[in-house]
Amino acid sequence: MSETIKEKFIINGFAGKKSLKGKLRVSGAKNAALKLLPASLLFEDKVLFSNVPEIEDIGRMADLLRGSGAIVKKKERGVYEIDPSKIKNGDLDYEISKRLRASVVLTGPMLSRFGKVTFPHPGGCVIGARPIDIFLEGFEKMGARTSAVKKGDKESFVIKARGGKLHGAEIFFKQQSVTATETFMMAGVLAKGKTILKNSAMEPEITHLAEFLIKGGAKISGAGTTTIEIEGGGMLKMGGQEFKVMPDRIETGSFLILAVLAGKDIEITDCNPVNIEALIELLKLSGAKIKIGETNIIVKENKNLKSVSVKTHEYPGFPTDLQSPMVVFLTQTKGESLVFETIFEGRLNYTESLVRMGANIEIWDPHRIMVKGPSNLKGKVLESPDLRAGLAFVIASIVAKGESVVHNVYNIDRGYEQIEERLKKIGVDIKRVKN
Ligand code: EPZ
Repeated sequence: MSETIKEKFIINGFAGKKSLKGKLRVSGAKNAALKLLPASLLFEDKVLFSNVPEIEDIGRMADLLRGSGAIVKKKERGVYEIDPSKIKNGDLDYEISKRLRASVVLTGPMLSRFGKVTFPHPGGCVIGARPIDIFLEGFEKMGARTSAVKKGDKESFVIKARGGKLHGAEIFFKQQSVTATETFMMAGVLAKGKTILKNSAMEPEITHLAEFLIKGGAKISGAGTTTIEIEGGGMLKMGGQEFKVMPDRIETGSFLILAVLAGKDIEITDCNPVNIEALIELLKLSGAKIKIGETNIIVKENKNLKSVSVKTHEYPGFPTDLQSPMVVFLTQTKGESLVFETIFEGRLNYTESLVRMGANIEIWDPHRIMVKGPSNLKGKVLESPDLRAGLAFVIASIVAKGESVVHNVYNIDRGYEQIEERLKKIGVDIKRVKN
């Protein structure tokens, strides 16, 4: 597994010059594919996905599904066929689940299908505690009870549906949660009776997941709004239809920020700009010139950008996953920007590395920073703490003067397919080196 081979990127920056030219293709969405693969457990026949991003997290999810007995075949690059008919139980591999927050969504289809699931707390990472209280409370309402089991130093949860079957319920999410909304949408598919989810998240990946389930025969209404209704029924059938994973909106937004910062003439292709309106609006307010197409974005040379303040918010607000690339952008704009990270309590720690590069950033509290610009960034040795800050460090290194080293490339590979290959194609001086 590539995590054991510590790798790093060596990047030579352009010192603020606008030199990048060419096309940047966007891959399929990590946070859509990581829910579509588990959703295949609700089907009685094979399911075929295309445009699946070739990233580490998908590899881990495939391992988890295989560990539970599903047959997962990679037909070609980005095309996966899953045969869920051989799935035997709801026990999730402890080690893999620990490393993949998205593993928590498997509890929905597993409980819905088998009435029992065993899994470890999916674990937090540098961005916050990542509790799962909303999941445990929701399953109680659907007639399941949770107990904790300890094997040595490994603690897992066992969730069992009374009578072996979940029943529908009305669940009001005390906090809008993306994976909780997806998990209970899937749990409702095979539950007895109707499930109503209130204060649901509205991210495009949720609407996309509902589209897939409905294609298989599920009765779901309201996805993309805060109230989703699911009528429980029998196993779903795909009947050989293929389902294409939507473009990754966070990758699109990260590439757009890079293009505005260092682009001379860049086209971002195979994307869905309507899903990043919050970012596009702020970039335009800062003075960036951006040409938006149906499935592409064209960026020519931009200069004299003005500071804008950013508040992260559930969709359709500004996405927390674009906060770190946006802060790199703000270090290059003229003026002061207040950045308010409302979703996670640990998602601003990476800024100390940007300060080491020369950025002028004041930390006000765990949720707020003030960015003053523009600053000339200098190349440094950096450690990517998570995949989004890792990519932000790559962007900062491209803008900086001199050489940067970005360690823990596995974190970036978790969410961005062959990132250095795509960046080289537009002129970035980047190479992957084993430690
Ligand atoms: C999803 O995480 C994404 N991950 C995250 O992307 C993204 O940052 C996040 O949504 C917010 O948009 C995947 O889809 C795999 P939440 P999720 O539940 O669902 C609190 C990336 O880089 N909460 O919407 O885990 C939680 O602590 C990742 O691709 C509870 O309190 O996030 C947070 O403050 C990072 N109890 C808030 O809700 C719970 O039981 C929103 O989190 C669950 C969540």
